[in-house]
Amino acid sequence: MDSLKITGGHKLNGTIPVSGAKNSALKLMAACLLTREPLTLTNMPNLADTRFLSQLLASLGVEVYWPKGDSECRLNAAELTSTIAPYDQVRKMRASFNVLGPMLAREGHATVSLPGGCAIGARPVDLHLQALEGMGADLKVEAGYVKAAAIHGLKGAKIVFPFVSVGATEHAMLAATLANGETVLENAAREPEIADLADCLNSMGARISGAGTATVRIEGVESLSGAQHAVMPDRIEAGTYAMAAAAAGGDVTLNGAPVAALGALIDALKRCGVDVDADESAATIRIQRNGSALKAINIDTQPHPGFPTDLQAQFMALMSIADGTSVIRENIFENRFMHAPELSRLGANIQVRGKEAIVQGVSQLRGAPVMATDLRASVSLVIAGLAAEGETQVNRIYHLDRGFERLEEKLTGCGANIVRVDGD
Ligand code: UD1
Repeated sequence: MDSLKITGGHKLNGTIPVSGAKNSALKLMAACLLTREPLTLTNMPNLADTRFLSQLLASLGVEVYWPKGDSECRLNAAELTSTIAPYDQVRKMRASFNVLGPMLAREGHATVSLPGGCAIGARPVDLHLQALEGMGADLKVEAGYVKAAAIHGLKGAKIVFPFVSVGATEHAMLAATLANGETVLENAAREPEIADLADCLNSMGARISGAGTATVRIEGVESLSGAQHAVMPDRIEAGTYAMAAAAAGGDVTLNGAPVAALGALIDALKRCGVDVDADESAATIRIQRNGSALKAINIDTQPHPGFPTDLQAQFMALMSIADGTSVIRENIFENRFMHAPELSRLGANIQVRGKEAIVQGVSQLRGAPVMATDLRASVSLVIAGLAAEGETQVNRIYHLDRGFERLEEKLTGCGANIVRVDGD
């Protein structure tokens, strides 16, 4: 298995281009199942997860044209040869479950494996199923599979989510585009990726309003057409590099950054004493820290526009070298502190108590071998390794390849000393 060898202590100086958003791309790709015409996605991130979903789509009969390394992907679902997504494919990546709603809406039936839990928590799909059932789908859960039918098509409905779920909001939105009548989603998630998906669906002929607010209205249409859509920039990737620059010190400009989507992080970094210059019209964020100390602050993860759970691990790495004590509260997932013991191996002082991690800043981290446990946790170890003195080896980096495009190249371009070591 490959690992990353990081020699820390180098400041980061330069520019980093922000890639297309993984979390948006995965749902946009699923949208191709709603139309017989080609959907072309540009600014596509080349990642293990997006490549994996393209294989799943191909197994359903979608013609995928996406040359290796290319940022443009063409998906043509003129004919579906299968409406079954098997366990082996959905198990590996939870977002695969989102093919259920579009296939059901278009074909009137679909069978998709339940995704199961994952390292960061149980992550059930009950809200996804509640929404589809609300639209009149007949659902049976048998032997780990959801068998869904809507022989006469889905019907518009009012769906009130008991709590906010990004995936369930997107799934319901996808399915409702072809339902008969109007669907209203109440207590919908407001993440920027939801507005990105709605923009794409609207350019395919859907009639969605309110995406990005807590109430989304979808007027069902008879059919959708093909379209071309640019995937929005990845706010989690951008936020991660912003924190890498803040932790290692230096002067880094993120190009093509989704400034408006990063308000909570920008605010947090400023409160820590980091110099942040965000320009929304130029889509740039400049992060500078040259010698000044970092101030410890408390954060609470919340649904958007609050502080994102996907940046919590990276923020913990930053707080481990701040002056003072930081209390980090994780409110979205129940088991998302697995990076804490790994950061401690680098000398961080962190105590986890239930939903809270108490981080007592130390003056210096020191390199050590560590193990990546999930996508965002692994990149927090990279940030800590960049700031640490000496050599850090991050093992099990296949997690990183799921969500960070050309990570070593982007960091090395700013002066980091980071190399991939081929495993056996
Ligand atoms: C998406 C993102 C993930 C991010 C998360 C929260 C993708 C591919 N992934 O995940 O990176 O961390 O949003 O911003 O876009 N839940 C239920 N029942 C459900 C659905 C969710 O109990 O049917 C729970 C989950 O276990 C979790 C919480 O709701 O505790 C929020 O999950 P959700 O917003 O659905 O996250 P995902 O869409 O899976």
